[in-house]
Amino acid sequence: MSDKKIIAVVGATGAQGGGLVRAILNDKNSPFAVRAITRDVNSDKARALAAMGAEVVAADLDDQASLERAFTGAYGAFCVTFFWAHFSPEKELAGARAMAEAAKKAGVQHVIWSTLEDTRKFIPLTDNRMPTLLGKYKVPHFDAKDEANAIFTEYGLPVTFLQTAFYWENLIYFGAGPQKGPDGKYYLTMPMGDKQLPGISSEDIGKTAYGIFKAGKEMIGKTVAIAGEHLTGAQMAAALTKALGKEVFYNDVDPDVYRKFGFPGADEMGNMFQFKRDFADYYVGHRDLNVARRLNPELLTFDKWLEKNASLIPVE
Ligand SMILES: NC(=O)c1ccc[n+]([C@@H]2O[C@H](COP(=O)([O-])OP(=O)(O)OC[C@H]3O[C@@H](n4cnc5c(N)ncnc54)[C@H](OP(=O)(O)O)[C@@H]3O)[C@@H](O)[C@H]2O)c1
Repeated sequence: MSDKKIIAVVGATGAQGGGLVRAILNDKNSPFAVRAITRDVNSDKARALAAMGAEVVAADLDDQASLERAFTGAYGAFCVTFFWAHFSPEKELAGARAMAEAAKKAGVQHVIWSTLEDTRKFIPLTDNRMPTLLGKYKVPHFDAKDEANAIFTEYGLPVTFLQTAFYWENLIYFGAGPQKGPDGKYYLTMPMGDKQLPGISSEDIGKTAYGIFKAGKEMIGKTVAIAGEHLTGAQMAAALTKALGKEVFYNDVDPDVYRKFGFPGADEMGNMFQFKRDFADYYVGHRDLNVARRLNPELLTFDKWLEKNASLIPVE
């Protein structure tokens, strides 16, 4: 039997967790083995992870007992919630509590909680520059993740808080890529003004989590805020122009205009970009690229990410 320490990975078939699973399995000398958590062990993605060498187990954040089984015997646990599956900050908080409880019961020695800032510490609910959403949030999927930090602390867990950044994969899967305007030109539309947007390849979030598990004890109790590169909308458009071979223009819009675009979550995304724009000095400064690169020497810049992924960005 392997004497490798088990890392239980929530969201293993997804972006962040999948990145961590692949980082561990691709390192033949890794001190860790992977326990990939999925709701469906028979899905194509789950089978692919098993074929790579992961132990694949079934668990659901909505089923406490299944999580406790999945964390039992694990040295480490990578914990993430899935806002865009339900749009509910309360469900994120419940999921975080379920994982913290399971990690406590299992005696997990290192937990990574994938989190973000509470924007209400910067823009109180009384600040009307952006609407309050769902009664008590400014950016629900940010605010609830930071609120959940306290749950992991309350359980006395050995936790590292990993503050993530905007995935460049949103340009592929989230409809955030360049769109053709009525004039036939391509526009990258974001209400970021001339401020930098910290971005990252979601695969690199998983790779950084691997670096944190490898660093071990020294990372416990720490907050690590990461990004692959900080770029303005104009710089992103210029990189896209080069990579796609089509001219892409940056289209800065007012956050109020963005919030009214009408796609599900447009108000939330409008608030999110406005927070990043209005507090860019903090938000960019807090995400030290050197820290991310030390933990993950393979960290991609936007150009390098485009070299691999530009062909997947839907532009016709
Ligand atoms: N998009 C961005 O730019 C961005 C940036 C920073 C942070 N985030 C945050 O990232 C989080 C999502 O992480 P991700 O992008 O890695 O996820 P993802 O790729 O959307 O999905 C991860 C996997 O989670 C599993 N899952 C979904 N609901 C589950 C449940 N109830 N119990 C157990 N597993 C469940 C699914 O696997 P199975 O179907 O196999 O069970 C899914 O494949 C969100 O909360 C979001 O706010 C996103």
